Amino acid sequence: MRHKVKKMFRNADNLPSLPIVVQKIFASINDPSVGAKELARIVTNDQALASKVLKLVNSSFFGLRGKIQNIHHAVTMLGFSTLRQLCLGVSLTKYFNNLKSTAGLTGEEFWLHSISTAILSNRLAKVSSVEADQDVCYTVGLIHDIGKLLLLQYHRDRYVEALKKARDENIPLVQAEVDIFEVDHCAVGSWLYRNWKLPRETRRAVKSHHNINPDEISPVSEDALTGVVYFANLISHHFEIGNSGNPVSEFDEEKFRTFFGESLEEMEIDRVKIEEETMISLEILGLTDSAGKETVGA
Ligand SMILES: [Fe+2]
Ligand SMILES: [Fe+2]
Repeated sequence: MRHKVKKMFRNADNLPSLPIVVQKIFASINDPSVGAKELARIVTNDQALASKVLKLVNSSFFGLRGKIQNIHHAVTMLGFSTLRQLCLGVSLTKYFNNLKSTAGLTGEEFWLHSISTAILSNRLAKVSSVEADQDVCYTVGLIHDIGKLLLLQYHRDRYVEALKKARDENIPLVQAEVDIFEVDHCAVGSWLYRNWKLPRETRRAVKSHHNINPDEISPVSEDALTGVVYFANLISHHFEIGNSGNPVSEFDEEKFRTFFGESLEEMEIDRVKIEEETMISLEILGLTDSAGKETVGA
């Protein structure tokens, strides 16, 4: 089965392509020569994205109702990072939001888990001394579980089986995936990242987000991103924000402190605030089930 799944996902024709605007925004993160003007140009060139973003920034959420006339103005008002995250959020979630609900896991719950992991990744990078870019952390956090969506999209029945097996036997979802597919969503996600030619450290973070010992990686190395996403995912579970289909997840406070040098409390990472921010982002991105989006599996 692994071979079959691998062959399918390794074939570029079988994989969704990354929208050009996302490729450009992603590339801009590591390119200091891209300023506000260039980012505005990139976004404006994608009419659908630009109009959605303008609608959002003029919504009541941002308190700027009707004041923002163009994307360049939006960059100035919201800041480079916020606008970049908003654009990536709009593009990436829209792109993968065509899934029906499954095995008791709803699309809204899945995105609550993903968005909270993105927000937590961003926050961890911001308030600690790890060497990881905040926007990259946000983006990889947002789509760290993208392998699940691909498996659901292409092998729905078997993936529903994996979700049920994990739940019924109370085992980690990755274990149920390996039992059924001989491969887990981390590997599948990393194949997609490779196909999209995303930076090597992002592929490694996705590939390892359930399979690392944080004691063995350094927060000031290329592996910092892996550590951030690994812990953000665990904290999202620990805070019980949304649901990723994984019934088993253990946040180890001691390991966290060893990696970041401080506790969650000392870093002022508070469950209520993270959940509030996650709910707002979910609304902004139109990912609530009431917004007509469906569940992932059933
Ligand atoms: Fe995962
Ligand atoms: Fe996750």
